[in-house]
Amino acid sequence: MSRKKLIRFEHNADNEKIIQEGKPIYQAIKGKWHSEYFKNNNPIVLELACGRGEYTVALAQKYPNMNFIGVDLKGARIWKGATQADALGLNNVAFLRAIIENLDRFFEKGEVSEIWLIHPDPRPKARDEKRRLTSPRFLQLYRSISQENVLVRLKTDSSLLYDFTLEILENEKISELVHTNDLYQSPLLADHLDVQQQPIKTKYENKFADMGFTINYIKFRLL
Ligand SMILES: C[S@@+](CC[C@H](N)C(=O)[O-])C[C@H]1O[C@@H](n2cnc3c(N)ncnc32)[C@H](O)[C@@H]1O
Repeated sequence: MSRKKLIRFEHNADNEKIIQEGKPIYQAIKGKWHSEYFKNNNPIVLELACGRGEYTVALAQKYPNMNFIGVDLKGARIWKGATQADALGLNNVAFLRAIIENLDRFFEKGEVSEIWLIHPDPRPKARDEKRRLTSPRFLQLYRSISQENVLVRLKTDSSLLYDFTLEILENEKISELVHTNDLYQSPLLADHLDVQQQPIKTKYENKFADMGFTINYIKFRLL
């Protein structure tokens, strides 16, 4: 392991914004995010596969009356988001280092109000369809931790994941579906503006935008 990673892991162990294995709160947080962590009753929004947590931090700045939790399995990545949230003095941010498949170990039914999926791995191989974060088993998992009619948003550089998701949604109970295959030419871009009205962009988005990919966006409510 690189020295940089080791230092980040040491910081994560001391950073209260990071909920990870080895800390007592990791086992005890299910159903208690409002009372034990945020100490308020504001809505909880998840960013899944958050990487460096660009959306978690930018949205927390923009919406101080909502709580944001970035979830990712990579500690060196969430270190970045947690460090930025500290530098900005944000108290409405947490990062959960966990596997998304295990979300129901950390959240109770009704605890989550909204879910953002920002450039998740598209898993292009047919045999990996079940691992795509908009496959039916994940949608069912999101229902199991969320309030009724939870809002789900997917932003992706992958047209495969965009088409796959629209196809899956044809057979799901959903409402308020809107989508675009060219976000930067769509009024839906308004959903992605930061506090300075600039589009929030992540590391992966910048990489794919530089290669000329358009950005796809889907928003819907799960019934
Ligand atoms: C393509 S990156 C995108 C990161 C970030 N959203 C961005 O746009 O820069 C996908 C992220 O998903 C995380 N990831 C993949 N599978 C996961 C899983 N099953 N549970 C938790 N995180 C996962 C990876 O660690 C990685 O940070």
